[in-house]
Amino acid sequence: MNGFPADFLWGAATSAYQIEGSPLADGAGPSIWHRFSREPGRVLGGDTGDLACDHYRRYREDLALMAGLGINAYRFSVAWGRVLPQGGGPINRQGLGFYDRLVDELLALGIAPMLTLYHWDLPLALDERGGWCHRDIAGRFADYAEVLFRALDDRVRLWLTLNEPWVSAVLGYQTGVHAPGRQGLSEAALAAQHLLLAHGEAVAAYRATGRHRIGIAVNLEPQHAASERAEDIEAAARRHAYVNRWFLDPILLGRYPDGLSAMFGAAWPQVSPEDLARIHAPVDFLGVNYYSRGLVEWDPSDRPAQARVISRMGTERTAMGWEVYPEGLTEILLWLRREYGERPLYLTESGAAFDDPPPADGVVADPERATYLRRHLRAAESALRQGVDLRGYFVWSLLDNFEWAYGYSKRFGLIHVDFATQRRTPKASAWLYRAIIRQGGANLADSPDPA
Ligand code: FCB
Repeated sequence: MNGFPADFLWGAATSAYQIEGSPLADGAGPSIWHRFSREPGRVLGGDTGDLACDHYRRYREDLALMAGLGINAYRFSVAWGRVLPQGGGPINRQGLGFYDRLVDELLALGIAPMLTLYHWDLPLALDERGGWCHRDIAGRFADYAEVLFRALDDRVRLWLTLNEPWVSAVLGYQTGVHAPGRQGLSEAALAAQHLLLAHGEAVAAYRATGRHRIGIAVNLEPQHAASERAEDIEAAARRHAYVNRWFLDPILLGRYPDGLSAMFGAAWPQVSPEDLARIHAPVDFLGVNYYSRGLVEWDPSDRPAQARVISRMGTERTAMGWEVYPEGLTEILLWLRREYGERPLYLTESGAAFDDPPPADGVVADPERATYLRRHLRAAESALRQGVDLRGYFVWSLLDNFEWAYGYSKRFGLIHVDFATQRRTPKASAWLYRAIIRQGGANLADSPDPA
């Protein structure tokens, strides 16, 4: 007997801008990534999502490949600007029609859809009015969400409001390495506040319109002190509040974590009790995106947490430079339950980029990804055995795709994509995943890969 329940979701994940291509097709409005990727120096190699995996046109082929691997759940995101080209106003039926067909096709293949409403591709028209820094965005997001609830809730049973709001706020508005590329601590804090409010308003809209389940996907990573020094231990604790609790505490506890406003100082926005109550709307489940841990050193120049993530020589890393640390997945899942109580969880992203060799005779040998997958599934199983209510595991990603500021240079896919020809080749890790799924999660030991 292994620890995975019979109805476990064995999934794969993607997001709209990263795979679809055709960003302006059929009346869609441009997104902040459409503009950002055209600004010199923003994305490695000047790559854009103009073609990406051409999934907008090839989705049938991609879904068939997924079904062939035995994957029974698919997490995808909707491009807001396809449905509402101006961010609000009239619905673009053609854009909505794409997702309507996608969902039908998934169901016909026996694959459960999990829909993310926002995976970072804000309509440009809304950015021009201040984007996530403008308070009105919360209501606009809820209106957009409602359009989708009305159109798809008869078939979609798992909804996510936002993907990784921490990344949207910090990388988009503080460090500026993601769209819209702003750099201001107070902008980031304000954007975070409005992302939370948008989430809360969308959940409220769902309670009025939807009949299934809704949650949010957050990026979590244990923060470990790099030494026994008190300064490092305190820095790790601050970074834990900043990364792991900034969004979860308001959503699940109705308040911001202790010490967070002090870290931001004058950059911290006014927050009313009414807003906190809206943000605190009950969610049905949580999505966790897990990649690594943070090894933390005190660094007074690093704002706002005075905590810097370091990398240690000799540790195993992915092509992103992220430490391979599967035990952190068990740790963070147990922490979630301990801290916030029992609640259904999905691992909404887990995966790794490696420098895969190109396909040779239809084979892509990616033994590191296969090992990474096994080890993280074992870590998930360990959490299950300790009573965590984990209901599914979504590999990031189904396909090699546009990895944001890294463009096409980082490959996370189970399926290799040749971006010149759009040819798809399942990697060895994809065949391994198929074998694991077939056995319901048995045989996760580091044995030789199946042929
Ligand atoms: C996550 C994002 C996803 C992808 C992976 C590698 O932070 O949600 O789009 O970029 O990282």
